[in-house]
Amino acid sequence: MKSENIITVNHPLIKHKLSIMRDVETPTAKFRELLREISLLLAYEVCRDLETEEVSVQTPLELVKVPKIVGKKLCFISILRAGNGLLDGMLDLVPSARVGHVGLYRDPKSLVPVEYYLKLPDNLEERLCVVVDPMLATGNSAVAGVQRIKDAGAKRIKFVCLLAAPEGLATFSDQHPDVQIVTAAIDRELNDHAYILPGLGDAGDRMYGTK
Ligand code: URA
Repeated sequence: MKSENIITVNHPLIKHKLSIMRDVETPTAKFRELLREISLLLAYEVCRDLETEEVSVQTPLELVKVPKIVGKKLCFISILRAGNGLLDGMLDLVPSARVGHVGLYRDPKSLVPVEYYLKLPDNLEERLCVVVDPMLATGNSAVAGVQRIKDAGAKRIKFVCLLAAPEGLATFSDQHPDVQIVTAAIDRELNDHAYILPGLGDAGDRMYGTK
């Protein structure tokens, strides 16, 4: 596992908000709100190395050369359903981004992720593709989702999660060593049901009030 490819965004605001999200007493609406706020901060980190070029702008006082982001609009790709919780905050920060969705479920017998939905924007090969899924647990669905996006042509990909388990990080980096992982925190381990410990429970259930 190449640790330079794993970025843990170390910021007191993120730590504080994540601690509230972990609390079992935090209600659904608050959980969603915090996830949206953290994802905006994660998006800020993800966009750190976007390329800019100098363009001319006339201020009220003079003509000046200023930097603007170049290239095709970036693309956020949500792994359904929990990925949608990260998507909203990212779109708050980059409203013009294109959006894709990948739906995967785990076959109960083979435990292999099976695709049930795929909708992606055009020209993925020319965009920075940011794949989002809050919990990198076993890493299996993240690995499958990113592979699907590579198959569709994406060349420059980052993966963003809220919490990562060491097991998921190892699996993901092994399969996709070219994809940078941006996470708010790395937790201790997985339990026997592939939940992250200490974690925050089932992210989808906590976002949507389901069980
Ligand atoms: N998915 C979740 O929502 N939570 C976990 O802890 C692991 C996977």
